[in-house]
Amino acid sequence: MKDFPLLDRREVLKAGLRFSTATLGMGAAGAFGQSVPFAPPDSTKVLGPPPSALGQRSPFETPQKFLRPGTAAAGASFTPLEILHGIITPADLHFERHHAGIPVIDPGSFELMIHGLVDRPMKFTLNDLKRFPATSKICFIECSGNGRQAASLPDGLPEDITPGQLDGLFSVSEWTGVKLSTLLDEVGASRRATWMLAEGQDAAVMGRSIPMRKVLDDAMVVYAQNGEAIRPEQGYPLRLLLPGWEGNANVKWLRRLEISDAPFMMRDETSKYTDAMADGRMRMFTFEMAPKSLITNLSYPYVMQRKGFHEIRGIAWSGGGKIARVDISLDGGRNWARAALQEPVLDKCATCFRYGFDWQGEERIIMSRATDEQCNTQLGYVDNEANRGPGTSYHNSAIRPWKIHADGHITFAMKEVAA
Ligand code: CO
Repeated sequence: MKDFPLLDRREVLKAGLRFSTATLGMGAAGAFGQSVPFAPPDSTKVLGPPPSALGQRSPFETPQKFLRPGTAAAGASFTPLEILHGIITPADLHFERHHAGIPVIDPGSFELMIHGLVDRPMKFTLNDLKRFPATSKICFIECSGNGRQAASLPDGLPEDITPGQLDGLFSVSEWTGVKLSTLLDEVGASRRATWMLAEGQDAAVMGRSIPMRKVLDDAMVVYAQNGEAIRPEQGYPLRLLLPGWEGNANVKWLRRLEISDAPFMMRDETSKYTDAMADGRMRMFTFEMAPKSLITNLSYPYVMQRKGFHEIRGIAWSGGGKIARVDISLDGGRNWARAALQEPVLDKCATCFRYGFDWQGEERIIMSRATDEQCNTQLGYVDNEANRGPGTSYHNSAIRPWKIHADGHITFAMKEVAA
């Protein structure tokens, strides 16, 4: 049986195979593949499917997020960072972290209310919001608990963990919406205002207090992600965007903003999302995500197939602004050399880095270290623990080391570095 009257799938496969081997043969023969006689595909024999109303991935590409086992409506799924290229996360691979599941919200009856210390309390429909000047920002969202497994040393940390399973509560999108400063002009926010409550419409009624300086700086309410309406998992039809600040404060399914002169002391900024220090005191309102980098190529489960040139690749980011430099160590942190940064280098966004080296079968611990434009640098495991306090696992931005074994397999090496 044929799936489509004009298409024989075996013919397509055969033609595709001929074409790819022919292309290899035309290139630098012997360097990256076998030289074969050139045989152009006979395109007259193979008719592909017609244009489609909605594109699809190649059937050979089946990416999946890592779903944290044993979780239900309050769980998480992780972006598979090791299979991505460039800086943008496909919308369906954006990480998810919910506190009470994903609400279904009809955009036709949706309203955003803004009230409190304002001259004109108002409700905005989605169409009202789309009439305001639109603005876009390409930036990351990272859960403040991202990479918290790295705080469970020395015993709790597996060596067979992928970059995405470790730090995949991190994704990058182009977000489009309205600057909050524009909306606050519209409602006439008081000059006495110092805090704003952002409240979601999920069953947990997620709420966070946001300082006014951030609200008036670069905060947005966004209705679009990577060119289309944001996905239900990302807060459809509207979410708060606080570039560079911990994911939890970027409230999804946004329904209410209340302007005030004091923080609201919500559950998720008192019992959760606070950072316990060694002396028993707590840090509260730790919003900004620290500089961090992650090697996504030449990390578990990649296996070095042969000796010779290899490229360490990864991403670096900071809630404090642009990435200024990334350094690479091939010897467990004793010596460092500068990696190449790939354009674009954007504010509060992932920046790709690259570093090529010659591997001759020796055992190596490789690391990357990010520095942002404010000269803040990613710390090693020991310094990071001392800085954050042993009682917290939030904001774990310690340097992530990987060990290349002599037989070519690679493991996560935090345990060895911390010892
Ligand atoms: Co925090």
